[in-house]
Amino acid sequence: MSKLNAIFARGLNGEFSLSDGSLPWKNVPELSEDAKNDMAHFKSMTMGGIVIMGFNTYRTFKKPLPGRINAVIDRNCEPTSCSTITDGQFIFFSSLESAIDYFSDEKFSRQEMFLIGGAKLFEYALSKNLVDGKIYETVFNARFPDAATFVEPLSEEWEIIGREKNGEHSEILMHENNRYSSVQIFYK
Ligand SMILES: NC(=O)c1ccc[n+]([C@@H]2O[C@H](COP(=O)([O-])OP(=O)(O)OC[C@H]3O[C@@H](n4cnc5c(N)ncnc54)[C@H](OP(=O)(O)O)[C@@H]3O)[C@@H](O)[C@H]2O)c1
Repeated sequence: MSKLNAIFARGLNGEFSLSDGSLPWKNVPELSEDAKNDMAHFKSMTMGGIVIMGFNTYRTFKKPLPGRINAVIDRNCEPTSCSTITDGQFIFFSSLESAIDYFSDEKFSRQEMFLIGGAKLFEYALSKNLVDGKIYETVFNARFPDAATFVEPLSEEWEIIGREKNGEHSEILMHENNRYSSVQIFYK
């Protein structure tokens, strides 16, 4: 069964998006290289897999991300209309749990599953312990006073198991929850 991973980017204060829905670092000239690298990282991680997003994030997309199954969580979606996948279209689910359940089928077992936002859906997924894979967090080493949406810092159980430079002003942290960690450490 595929695990649910999460991938997102934030500023130093947890800045997540601006009021118009855009990413805070998008139009900052000195961060343009880092923003470009982050998009490339997002693309390479999610390509060929399943991306799951909240309704507000969906509304910022002009079309589905190519090469990936695009799932949208919409409380108002009719559960009966949520069961067929057509290439190049969004597929809607009335809850995150029903999406995870749907993609747990053997036929999706070779595809990685990623929660890609937004802040509300992340908060919900983490509070319900639904993220049982890894979290890929890009941290921009800058503050964004115009941000409208923020994410809380990850709890301590999300240990950093890897980090790499994303550019001059950002790095990518890879986290795993010690509850789900494959490495067991025993103390006498
Ligand atoms: N920095 C990043 O890496 C990143 C990544 C992705 C998106 N974003 C940005 O984040 C912003 C959107 O984030 P957001 O927090 O406003 O919205 P969101 O999480 O994308 O979507 C929230 C919507 O989904 C519904 N929803 C949330 N949890 C649900 C659940 N458990 N079951 C069913 N429906 C649920 C909510 O419905 P109700 O209203 O009924 O509760 C709400 O309408 C966008 O501006 C986007 O650009 C940033």
